[in-house]
Amino acid sequence: MKFLLVAGARPNFMKIAPILEAFRQHQETRPDLKVQLVHTGQHYDSKMSDSFFEDLGIPDPDINLGVGSGSHAQQTGRVMIAFEEVCVKERPDWVLVVGDVNSTMACTITAKKLGIRVAHVEAGLRSFDMTMPEEINRLCTDVLADLLFTTDPIADRNLRREGVAEEKICFVGNTMIDTLLRHRDRAWSMPLPEGLVDREFAVLTLHRPGNVDSCETLTTIFGAIGEIARHIPVVFPAHPRTIARLKEFGLFDALQNQQSIRMVEPLSYLPFVGLVMHSRMVLTDSGGIQEETTVLGIPCITMRPNTERPITCELGSNILVGTDPERIKSAAFSVLNGSVREPAIPEKWDGQAAPRIVDRLLAQ
Ligand code: UD1
Repeated sequence: MKFLLVAGARPNFMKIAPILEAFRQHQETRPDLKVQLVHTGQHYDSKMSDSFFEDLGIPDPDINLGVGSGSHAQQTGRVMIAFEEVCVKERPDWVLVVGDVNSTMACTITAKKLGIRVAHVEAGLRSFDMTMPEEINRLCTDVLADLLFTTDPIADRNLRREGVAEEKICFVGNTMIDTLLRHRDRAWSMPLPEGLVDREFAVLTLHRPGNVDSCETLTTIFGAIGEIARHIPVVFPAHPRTIARLKEFGLFDALQNQQSIRMVEPLSYLPFVGLVMHSRMVLTDSGGIQEETTVLGIPCITMRPNTERPITCELGSNILVGTDPERIKSAAFSVLNGSVREPAIPEKWDGQAAPRIVDRLLAQ
């Protein structure tokens, strides 16, 4: 049996790592089992890609498509053209994709048109917001995939409502949490950036087009963050897209001169998780960080109008506040005043999602 595993962008790497590892364990007793890792090259900076391979012990990709940046159509098209050649040459039995990035959708469409079966890890998440490129990627991927591995029962319900056959849906848990639990201790012992004190700083991440591509929204968000930063220092590992927009809108220099908002380069996995673990709270528009903070028990203030991960609000430490500056500040101040809910950990977020996925695939 031959599997091609696809990863393209930063949030894919922590999801693919434990799946590769679970396959490796089966390969010890199954010499017929072939597994190849394909990196599409959607993310290519060493800080967005290579450093994650090093931190997570992921072997070098067998194939790198090297597609790089571009518009959505350019990036998706380039992945499809390059991945088609790989599929024709390698003839895998299965292609496995993770998450919701452009590479996920592009490889799914390509494989299905060649009659190759597709498994989607992290299926069924829905923000119901069609202005998000990720929502379009999720819908296209899930309508085509043959096996849909889900992280929670809400995702199962979404898929059933869309008419996905029951036998295709497989609730396995969360491979991103497999990685988190595996590396938690190492992350905790990473040195904090100089001058930061345990629990006495907040972490900020911001990269969604909906937030950073509009000068008005970005200015509003940083207005609120500036006021929060008067009460607690804020560390901001900045995504390349956000840096580019800050420069374009003429906001970069002023932000860099702010003492209490410390803008740093994107961090690799272990230093970032370590930073979050030692923080008082996280302010973010990321998807995966909502899940990681739930498991780590760190309050998470999500600056988006919706989330495809509602379980983190229902059970976890996530508070959805949108981009209204008053709501952002009020959520942060209530965390600072000690009003913090004890989060529960969602079912099957137990570090064993990847073995469940591989067992199910090998039983096909
Ligand atoms: C992508 C994903 C998003 C994910 C995010 C994590 C899609 C539609 N979006 O968004 O779901 O949360 O990754 O980072 O797939 N760039 C670099 N170096 C890199 C990669 C990107 O400088 O290694 C810059 C380029 O200028 C590029 C921009 O960042 O144009 C955006 O990158 P892109 O991959 O298009 O989307 P992200 O915003 O990173």
